[in-house]
Amino acid sequence: MKKKLAVLGIAASMCVSMCAAPMSVQAAEDDVLTIGFAQVGHESDWRTASTKSCQDVFSAENGYDLQFVDCDNDSAVQLEAVRGFIEQEVDYIIIDPIVSTGWDTVLTECEDAGIPVIVIDRTIDDSDKYAAWVGSNFKTEGLAAGEWLKAYAAEKGIEEINALVIEGTNGSSAQIGRTEGFKEIADAEGWTILDSQDGNFDQATGQEVMESYCKSYEGKFNVVVCQNDNEAFGAMDAMTAAGVTYGVEGDVILVSFDACTAGLEYVKSGDINADFECNPLAAPFVEEVIKQLEAGETPEKEVYMEEHWYVNEDILSEITVDGVAQPLTVVTDEIIEAQY
Ligand code: AHR
Repeated sequence: MKKKLAVLGIAASMCVSMCAAPMSVQAAEDDVLTIGFAQVGHESDWRTASTKSCQDVFSAENGYDLQFVDCDNDSAVQLEAVRGFIEQEVDYIIIDPIVSTGWDTVLTECEDAGIPVIVIDRTIDDSDKYAAWVGSNFKTEGLAAGEWLKAYAAEKGIEEINALVIEGTNGSSAQIGRTEGFKEIADAEGWTILDSQDGNFDQATGQEVMESYCKSYEGKFNVVVCQNDNEAFGAMDAMTAAGVTYGVEGDVILVSFDACTAGLEYVKSGDINADFECNPLAAPFVEEVIKQLEAGETPEKEVYMEEHWYVNEDILSEITVDGVAQPLTVVTDEIIEAQY
């Protein structure tokens, strides 16, 4: 529910009697907007950066009352959180959907309550009852990883690809898109995907899955694709423990997604060969959507975040993804310094 900025109101009335140029009544009556944010959880460095981005933008200082719920990767908790926001009569609801389906009923409830919903990061695929979505093209990220591997293998004279994939949370659009994109190139190139299991986008599960892969596929794989950096950190620990070498100097090519600061440090050191960015800093764009809605305007339904592809070796300058040439960036200290 909209609350008046009491402090500003008092300042304004004082100013009307004391100042030569009084503050406008409009400014004095500025509203605090209450925003409910149902966040996925806290499974990764990416997630921490996404939460911080929202907390920084939707701060009390900026005129917002942010109601934040960490749903700990539990879809039932996330639906409950959204219903809680409806009960609280918040002004806007931000949802980062854990999974991409099962949303139509609760979004209808938001619509009936007259509360606009903004979806961030992952997509909702079974309802369009939201004002806007701001996030990443996960299929493009997966395609980019595949195209890079194709070009890299050709450059290095690697003729056979036997890949193990550690997927993200099953049913999330990030997992679905990255899997589809990479598989499209793998199928076209005739690569073998030996196994593809859910690593839940977290380090502990990534490590567990890799430990079991190392036992089941000993000596049979030359590529590991982790669908986020935290899974890759776990996979590196598991491979080190099993005596498997990886990265630029190793036997196994390691590919990751997110390109968080720690991920890029491992690209620079050569432990991760290539890292495909997923940009978590969506909150400023979400604020723009809210400003447009407040002004009675219709925002763009879909806003895509800008993302880059990072590598260790300076041997390929670009790849072509979906017919578009895209640069490959060699990681430097300056890039790491500026990353989330
Ligand atoms: O939805 C974005 C994905 O979720 C990021 O790749 C991952 O790190 C996060 O947990």
